[in-house]
Amino acid sequence: MEDFNNKSYNSLQKKTYNIFQDWKINEGNIKGRIVLVLYRLASLIRSKKILVIFFFWYLLFYRIFVEWFLNIEIHWNSKIGKGLRLEHGHGTVIHGDATLGNYCTIRHLTTIGIIKHDDGSYSHTPQLGNNVDVGASVTIIGGVNIGDNVLIGAASLVVRDIPANTTALGNPARVVKRHEVAEVSKQISYVVE
Ligand SMILES: CC(C)(COP(=O)(O)OP(=O)(O)OC[C@H]1O[C@@H](n2cnc3c(N)ncnc32)[C@H](O)[C@@H]1OP(=O)(O)O)[C@@H](O)C(=O)NCCC(=O)NCCS
Repeated sequence: MEDFNNKSYNSLQKKTYNIFQDWKINEGNIKGRIVLVLYRLASLIRSKKILVIFFFWYLLFYRIFVEWFLNIEIHWNSKIGKGLRLEHGHGTVIHGDATLGNYCTIRHLTTIGIIKHDDGSYSHTPQLGNNVDVGASVTIIGGVNIGDNVLIGAASLVVRDIPANTTALGNPARVVKRHEVAEVSKQISYVVE
């Protein structure tokens, strides 16, 4: 599999490539496709001052259409690798400082965000590796690191790091299973060559 994100392509090439990867991986999921194309364009515009000047109207449209009407908040500053699968896109929130690796899956009612501490300060944001499959109604908050090939059970609350190649679930989420990598790639079957 080509690891486009590790090569020295410019951001325009990467973001355009990511649009195609998202499109391919969300086959049969028109809402996911639309939201991700709109997110990639917003993210591209936000990455260059000159584009913001000419396309500020698009950013406004993105906020109103995707957040208010489609009910999905993926901040344009979130760093999302190629091939994000957005299943049943309702009530999804991804913070602007969060990072998602390649080929992750996010489902409805999932929050990836920060914690506000008693002293008014904010925590760091979650960082997800590659092939992280997040079940429905999962909340991942704070500066947690989630390794590659992780399955997170539906309705889990993740507030601690989760190591690679595991299944974690519950409130708070704990590792319940460790996987052989081959087994994981079979389960997480969205990887495209
Ligand atoms: C976490 C998950 C990946 C585990 O799948 P699995 O490895 O096949 O595990 P099993 O179904 O064999 O369950 C193992 C145990 O965990 C429990 N379990 C499974 N998912 C759980 C969850 N989300 N929360 C709490 N416990 C869970 C099972 O009841 C079972 O308990 P037991 O050993 O006491 O009987 C899966 O259950 C899951 O939650 N996937 C997300 C699916 C989803 O979000 N679907 C929405 C589609 S719209």
